[in-house]
Amino acid sequence: MIVVIGAGIAGLSAALAAAGDKRVGAEGLTTYGNANIAGNDSSDDVLLVCKDEFVESNTYHAQGGVACAIFSDDNPQLHAGDTMAAGHGLCDRTAVDVLTDEGARRVCELIAAGWHVDRGEDGSVLRGLEAAHCRSRVVHAGGDATGKVLELDVSAMVRENRRIHVLEHAFLNDLIVRDGHVSGVRLIVRGVDGEAESRTIDATRVILATGGAGRLYPYTTNPAVATGDGLAAALRAGAQVADLEFYQFHPTAMAIGEHFLVSEAVRGEGAILLDEHGHRFMTDVDHKAELAPRDVVARANFRTMQAQGGKPVMLDVSPMAKENPDLAAFLRHRFPTIDAYTRSLGFDWSKEPIPVAPAAHYWMGGIRTDLFGRSSIPGLYAAGECARTGVQGANRLASNSLLEGLVYGYRAGLAAVRDTDDAVWQPQTLSNSAIASLPVAQEPMVLDMPSHDDGNANTGVWDRKHIEDEMWKHVGVLRDHDGLAAAVTDLADALAGANAAVPGMSGAGSYADCIAVLENRNLLTVGYVEAVAALNRCESRGAHTRTDYATVNPTIAHSIAYRLKGTSC
Ligand code: SIN
Repeated sequence: MIVVIGAGIAGLSAALAAAGDKRVGAEGLTTYGNANIAGNDSSDDVLLVCKDEFVESNTYHAQGGVACAIFSDDNPQLHAGDTMAAGHGLCDRTAVDVLTDEGARRVCELIAAGWHVDRGEDGSVLRGLEAAHCRSRVVHAGGDATGKVLELDVSAMVRENRRIHVLEHAFLNDLIVRDGHVSGVRLIVRGVDGEAESRTIDATRVILATGGAGRLYPYTTNPAVATGDGLAAALRAGAQVADLEFYQFHPTAMAIGEHFLVSEAVRGEGAILLDEHGHRFMTDVDHKAELAPRDVVARANFRTMQAQGGKPVMLDVSPMAKENPDLAAFLRHRFPTIDAYTRSLGFDWSKEPIPVAPAAHYWMGGIRTDLFGRSSIPGLYAAGECARTGVQGANRLASNSLLEGLVYGYRAGLAAVRDTDDAVWQPQTLSNSAIASLPVAQEPMVLDMPSHDDGNANTGVWDRKHIEDEMWKHVGVLRDHDGLAAAVTDLADALAGANAAVPGMSGAGSYADCIAVLENRNLLTVGYVEAVAALNRCESRGAHTRTDYATVNPTIAHSIAYRLKGTSC
């Protein structure tokens, strides 16, 4: 039995591949990279574990679309070039080539299998432009509800597959590691009366597809489930992680309400950003203006807000009226979700600019994997946002995330079912291949798991607000040595407290109360390693901006891996 944790697009793709569904993967693997995978036709039973309801995931809430080179004026090399440029020198070229080449195949297969993408009157697939893409190549669905349509269509394929069993309301407590090999999972499941119950599941392989951890921050576009559970469990098990200092802040979330995402596709259609005086500031910052890479726009928004005493910047869609004279009707049709949300807050964005601000959106770093999702621990695989495949570098290109989940989820599922027990991961180098002469440490930096026995102060158990405030203040859009050093100390103390508290509460109380405690421990675990990684990277690159090291340092044009020791491995 293969256990897949998480049911966003990465988990769904992994489950379908492992269960031998032929609709995904029909066009095979790209020739890029070493296709070091046995060529048999195996499949296995799959348990797909979801901590909430089946479809709740970051994927479900994704808006813009799926970037893919499937149109006649485009090709995977152009898409790869844009991805590499956005990644600021830290993308792995082979992993990117796999993404863009195989991504085009996977998207075509899904459309053929019935994914309801938006089409024009002549039936052709519609596409949008997003920041830092040299072509319009973003396929969308439901206007701005791409993730929801994708999740519902692909989860329907999963439900039809008899080899895949779905377990809802089940939380990954920890990975079980025996003789250096992952052999199962410990779950907390919701009992019939809502109480927490422990359950142990044996597995030949475990695939983590648990998404990101936007809930580290008070302002985030991520749903409540995004608490870094898979990444934290992998860290406790001793797995290598990389690039955790690179956290992407989306430039435009609604500045009021629940920081609802206002898709980059809105700027792709022509919206502009204004400061409090109505000045279009992005033209002063980058020649691509509002369509500069996401890190550039997020930083500019943040700095503009700082300069105007915290007041949000304004997103003005009026330039779209030139091509769409009935602007209200166009917005309702092209962006139905955002249109409904802004109107629910009392805005008519066809007539007035709306207030927006940066919010935590996507983690480039994660569990270090090879091109088939294998982690440094045999039997453990990772895909999607919780993984670090090398495709995102220091800053992810817009609409590459669903694509990564699709491509690498499929690969992880395939490898999990085909790998022999002695299969070993074949990680890509951490170096920047463009600067081959640089000496690069390939070994991870090893960190102690904070505990009170090691002198960490007893600061008690932190609640969620405390975690969010600490992360936003010290490990947010702009960072510096003093803030990061304080965060490392504070988060280590808080994590020691959380680790001490957890053994005593296991199985107690309601499912909701139990997982709230475990989620906070997970957030502290991943936030602590993010802060250490951010402190160690003494430069500004991509989404990682240090005010005390304002420029790129070419001597560290490579990723750095970490792992925690003294844990369950
Ligand atoms: C958006 O619609 O702006 C988000 C898409 C993405 O994160 O790639």
